[in-house]
Amino acid sequence: MRPTSVLVQSQWLLCVLVGTCVSSVAVIHSLPWHVYCPARCVCQIKPWFSPESVYHKAPTVDCNDLLLTDLPSPLPHNTHTLRLQSNLLCSLQSEVLHSLPNLTELDLSQNRFSSVPAWSQHPVLDSLLSLHLEENQLAHLPRASFSSFPVLQELFLSHNRLHSLAAGAFAGLDSLLRLHMNNNRLTTIDPEWFKALPNLEVLILGGNPVEVLPKQAFQALRSLRSLMLGGMGLKVLAERALDGLDGLECLSFYDNLLTKVPTQALRRVPGLKFLDLNKNRIRLVETGGFRDMVHLKELGLNNMEDLVSIERAALDNLPELTKLEITNNPRLSYIHPQAFLQLSRLESLMLNSNSLSALHHHTLLSLPSLQEVSLHSNPLRCDCLFRWAAEEAFHHHARPQAVPPVDAQAGAGMPTPRMVRFIQPQATLCAEPPELRARRVKEVSSREMSASCLPLIPAGPLPAYIAVREGASLALHCRALAEPQPALYWVTPSGVRLGPASSHASSQNPIKAQTSNHSFSPHRPHAHAPHNYSSHYRLLPEGTLEITGATPKDAGLFTCVAENALGADTRTVTVVVHCVKRRLRQKQMSANLRRHPDATEGNAEGDLKVREVGQHYMVLSWANGHNLPMTRLFWRAIHPGTAHMPTYTTRILAGTQSFNLTHLVPETFYRVCLHLGLSQASGHEGRTEKGSSRPQCVTVKTKEAPQSKPMLAMSPELGSTVLVLLFLVVILLILASQGLNRRSADRPEQCHVDLLQEVKDHGLANQTPENGTHHGVQEEKAAFHHYC
Ligand SMILES: *[C@@H]1O[C@H](CO)[C@@H](O)[C@H](O)[C@H]1NC(C)=O
Ligand SMILES: *[C@@H]1O[C@H](CO)[C@@H](O)[C@H](O)[C@H]1NC(C)=O
Ligand SMILES: *[C@@H]1O[C@H](CO)[C@@H](O)[C@H](O)[C@H]1NC(C)=O
Ligand SMILES: *[C@@H]1O[C@H](CO)[C@@H](O)[C@H](O)[C@H]1NC(C)=O
Repeated sequence: MRPTSVLVQSQWLLCVLVGTCVSSVAVIHSLPWHVYCPARCVCQIKPWFSPESVYHKAPTVDCNDLLLTDLPSPLPHNTHTLRLQSNLLCSLQSEVLHSLPNLTELDLSQNRFSSVPAWSQHPVLDSLLSLHLEENQLAHLPRASFSSFPVLQELFLSHNRLHSLAAGAFAGLDSLLRLHMNNNRLTTIDPEWFKALPNLEVLILGGNPVEVLPKQAFQALRSLRSLMLGGMGLKVLAERALDGLDGLECLSFYDNLLTKVPTQALRRVPGLKFLDLNKNRIRLVETGGFRDMVHLKELGLNNMEDLVSIERAALDNLPELTKLEITNNPRLSYIHPQAFLQLSRLESLMLNSNSLSALHHHTLLSLPSLQEVSLHSNPLRCDCLFRWAAEEAFHHHARPQAVPPVDAQAGAGMPTPRMVRFIQPQATLCAEPPELRARRVKEVSSREMSASCLPLIPAGPLPAYIAVREGASLALHCRALAEPQPALYWVTPSGVRLGPASSHASSQNPIKAQTSNHSFSPHRPHAHAPHNYSSHYRLLPEGTLEITGATPKDAGLFTCVAENALGADTRTVTVVVHCVKRRLRQKQMSANLRRHPDATEGNAEGDLKVREVGQHYMVLSWANGHNLPMTRLFWRAIHPGTAHMPTYTTRILAGTQSFNLTHLVPETFYRVCLHLGLSQASGHEGRTEKGSSRPQCVTVKTKEAPQSKPMLAMSPELGSTVLVLLFLVVILLILASQGLNRRSADRPEQCHVDLLQEVKDHGLANQTPENGTHHGVQEEKAAFHHYC
């Protein structure tokens, strides 16, 4: 059998068997049948189940695989089942069949029929329940092709060459329960075909090249319970495509080209229990994608190459859902912490073999009946996001040994989720951080996992390079999980920031608030417009930037920034717009992309200005007509007597055009330089230097201190800042044994704190002497430096 057929069949079995009671009769052996049997055929009494699963002892004549070109004869008069599979029949002398009053099943599969046998001219075969004609060469079904079989219940026409069916092809099949028409050449579905089949329960249509289901295609099938539409190349489902299927319980869209969850169409089949959307081109399961499907028990969203994100409330109010499978989606890196709402019965959550870094503990908490979860074969981050897993695992491990409840308090502060079993715990491994890599999640204690974590934008949803045709639309998906939950914003090629103002971070972390001021220089009037800066950009709440009607001006670097109180992660994507009309423009545009930022037509890129100077800080700002994700600030104190003061550097987040340099020493000259740089995000490592322009520098003196007391005593605010800093130092020491970099250890008097990825041990070495600056591996991480 062809592989497609196997797929469709197994899908069908999976779905249909659930609903049908299959008698679990053990093995019933064939019995001898003492009749005159046609030459080379085998005649036996065999077990037989009707399409309604009723058991019979069936006198069976088996003439399979005999290269027959004619019906064997004479056939025993009371033949119940006649098997003629894999012969060379292309026509029938149907009189032979009419001499068999009790013929119930006739198998003519894998023969040479190119048209329906002309049995309709003969008296009816009023006992035939099951007719097999699969794997023949049928191309067309004329009207009333099967009207000789008034009680037929099951008709197999799969793997033929059917491309046209008369409107009344099935006329007379009032009793038909199952119709198998998969793997033919039908390109449309005609609602007329089904009008003759009021009792049909199972319809298998997969493997026909139908791109669009017409509306009300199945309206006549009031009794239909299972509809298999796998492998059809379906791209769109009309809102009313499934109208009238009030009894439908099982629906499969396996292996189609759907790009969205057909939410509207699904709303019209309220009785649905099993839904298979595996192997489609769905990119996002959006909010409300599956909502109020009150009978749904099982849902499959597996094997989707393009799936990147399950959004907030994507599954909402599915009170009967017990099993959810979202596996083998290589780009799925984000499940919103509140993706699943009101799934009160969900017991089994399969999430293995995706690109998930974690499953948020909120997700667990929102599933009160969850018993098992499968997360293996994901790049799991064993840090704060996944601490619940360690706690779970620890409990799980500890329970048999009756460990006192001391450990139960490890997770104090958040509600402890119930015991959830990991499926394949041996294969559920940490991928991050490096010191926990390849450890089994269940063997890592929650103490080893940090309590908060930096944003991390996974690469899956956002490729480094995207090409789009001029005028077409584009969606850039950026998602990040972290604790605290990060805020996301985008920076366009022209340096404009799209997204909410960064307010949350400042309120949570004083250090952060002092460190950067994400505002724009006043001569960029558009810069402050947060959401609808341009009518053709739209920022969706979850972090997707939609560009409708791309123009050559949209070509360039787009940077997504995810920020929380601890730090930020950025990811840059190069968008290329292919011009439809003029190839020249395309060249010009790609030249734009590569052009040195400050070579742009006289636009004074950079223009570093000092806006404000205090004793311990100075606020710098600059103009920036481009998205320059590799922008850095370098600073160094100048002491007349000392030759080499260390130079410090920090990454400037894309879209930022001012910076508050804090923790400076009063009455001291500082040399501050700004390097504007394009990123190497496109992957060309050799471009590092090419992307950076000549630095812009200023020399500034900080204000005098009013008195010459020790620094710590000067102001209460500074005192509290130092306390916070000390606290952070403690955290750093605890969390990352090698977190503080060696330089600050060498020069203890400088009290240099790096509040950055070293916490997570990403090894970012930003604070280095100017001549040894490490660009490179970690260029996408931002760091916040403090120097006192
Ligand atoms: C057909 O089946 C009926 C009922 O099972 C039986 O009484 C009858 O003898 C059968 N006819 C023949 C020709 O075997
Ligand atoms: C810069 O930071 C200092 C504290 O370090 C603060 O007093 C000052 O107000 C900040 N300036 C701006 C403009 O945010
Ligand atoms: C810092 O941000 C605030 C609020 O966005 C703004 O009013 C202020 O001018 C900014 N400071 C500088 C120096 O840009
Ligand atoms: C950095 O500069 C110092 C002094 O200028 C020099 O001794 C050292 O070798 C330089 N390091 C690198 C990596 O260039």
